[in-house]
Amino acid sequence: MNPNIVLVGMPASGKTTIGELLAKKIPAYTLIDTDAVIEKTSGLKIYEIFAKYSEDYFRKLEHDTIKIVCSGNNKIISIGGGAFENPGNRTTLMKFGTVFYLKSDLDVLYYRISEDSTRPLLQTKDPKKVLENLLKKREENYRKAHYTIDTSKFTEEEIINFILGIINEANSQRTAQ
Ligand code: S3P
Repeated sequence: MNPNIVLVGMPASGKTTIGELLAKKIPAYTLIDTDAVIEKTSGLKIYEIFAKYSEDYFRKLEHDTIKIVCSGNNKIISIGGGAFENPGNRTTLMKFGTVFYLKSDLDVLYYRISEDSTRPLLQTKDPKKVLENLLKKREENYRKAHYTIDTSKFTEEEIINFILGIINEANSQRTAQ
């Protein structure tokens, strides 16, 4: 396994929180959130890119950003919820690091995002239905990750320790080579 860390999962599945906690535990690693990179380089918020241009345009920026950030070592990459749908992105990410799918139930996801008006795909009359459909559609690809972690079954600390266990092992195998 490659000791870089990649976090995938639905919006509000905890990628940012887990990424930040991991980065604190392993200071040698740099945390990169691809949405944050896109916002910084474009000078626009994600929802503005959707509104001003289109989702397709955003997906292209996302694809280009993933290609750029996936190089080097000691990285934690957290990607937007839709990025793992693209086969090219999946190939890049699966090669670059060990991919962890942070799996959450629909109700938990919905509860977390219901107050958030900045998620462009969910600005609809029935956001829960949209979220449900997205989850159903994406689950098959998320499950291609190297590991699936059911976040409802573990504490944040347990999740971090699980990921670190795998990564420490990958790092020691690399040094032994
Ligand atoms: C998206 C999720 C968002 C962001 C964009 C599209 C999606 O990221 O990339 O709004 O398709 O699910 P988060 O998963 O960090 O919310």
